[in-house]
Amino acid sequence: MPPLPPTPARRVLCLAGSLRRDSWNRRLLHAAIDQAPSTLALTVYTDFAAVPLFDEDLEQLDPAGPVGVQALRAAMAAADGLVVATPEYNHALPGVLKNALDWLSRESPLGEVLVDKPVAVLGASAGPWGTRLAQASLRQVLHACGALVMPAPTLFMANAAAHFDGHGTLTDDAGAQALQRFMRAFEQWVERVAPATAAASMRRHG
Ligand SMILES: Cc1cc2nc3c(=O)[nH]c(=O)nc-3n(C[C@H](O)[C@H](O)[C@H](O)COP(=O)(O)O)c2cc1C
Repeated sequence: MPPLPPTPARRVLCLAGSLRRDSWNRRLLHAAIDQAPSTLALTVYTDFAAVPLFDEDLEQLDPAGPVGVQALRAAMAAADGLVVATPEYNHALPGVLKNALDWLSRESPLGEVLVDKPVAVLGASAGPWGTRLAQASLRQVLHACGALVMPAPTLFMANAAAHFDGHGTLTDDAGAQALQRFMRAFEQWVERVAPATAAASMRRHG
């Protein structure tokens, strides 16, 4: 019997909700990519700082939004899934992340790009709490945007400095295994909700 054709890779966009150069959450995303199954093609979005503060007047000027928004929205529209690593600021998701999600939640020439999108949420904090409250608030926002957030497993990385070396590489076996389980579960989640995603796309594009 001839070998089965390879499963096509699912394109997954990865967002770190921090603009900080040495962000633990960006490091966590890269570590997640290292542990992900090969059926996921993961890309970290690097131009987050180009997304301006949300303003409905800017939408009136151009329904596609400012250039920085167009780029993020196009990347999101082209992706089969989204992974978000969020810091915790004052017991919630950071403003830069909320701002970007507010833009993405809007109707646009590319449609509402978060509707029915499979999403995984994780996070790292410098302190002992591991972003539990930030992830809860992020889930609430994603739910409002119509995204399909993976319910479990969860991944809360506390005391982030203890898990990485000076180059930002994950050094901890238990952490790597947890990320591997997390990304395998996300691969299954993307496959599970893909029919809803395809149906929504057909509804949007006729
Ligand atoms: C404005 C601000 C508020 C913060 N609030 C919290 C908080 O509520 N809970 C927490 O665990 N850490 C809090 N922190 C610490 C962050 O977890 C820490 O700065 C973390 O490294 C940010 O993520 P990043 O490394 O990806 O930038 C706060 C940091 C800032 C700058």
